[in-house]
Amino acid sequence: MNAIALLKADHRAVEELFKEVQALSDTAHVSRGRIFKNIDRELTIHAHIEETIFYPAFKERTKRNTEPSDEVFEAFEEHANVKAMLAKLEALDPGDDTYNAKLQVLMELVKHHVKEEETRLFKQAKQLFDNEELDALGEQLEAAKEKMLAGAH
Ligand SMILES: [Fe+2]
Ligand SMILES: [Fe+2]
Repeated sequence: MNAIALLKADHRAVEELFKEVQALSDTAHVSRGRIFKNIDRELTIHAHIEETIFYPAFKERTKRNTEPSDEVFEAFEEHANVKAMLAKLEALDPGDDTYNAKLQVLMELVKHHVKEEETRLFKQAKQLFDNEELDALGEQLEAAKEKMLAGAH
């Protein structure tokens, strides 16, 4: 699978989970906690495969073309913010007064980051890599994802 198509499919899957969690009533703590676990797993795996495979490949290519890779540095920083919020939520009881607010901020962070990736980074990647290269990268991403999913059980 093409790397960009794979990463975009991940983004859409997380957005579906966001919709699910947003449709819950304020007091649906158990369901909120359960859906958060799925969001957490999806985002953790996605961030990991981007950070270990996609971003380094992108960075390497921009370096070779002597273009700046500011986009990648920014992406790493945004991931760090997302992960910090995931860690806060992991440590919190879903019935906590601040749980909804933290979840809301998490979703805003992710939405912003996804938009940046899809409108800038991925667009640039399409110019930097040909289809064959994107397919090869996609295979690497898929294999890493499967490995992480297997390890999670
Ligand atoms: Fe990302
Ligand atoms: Fe992403």
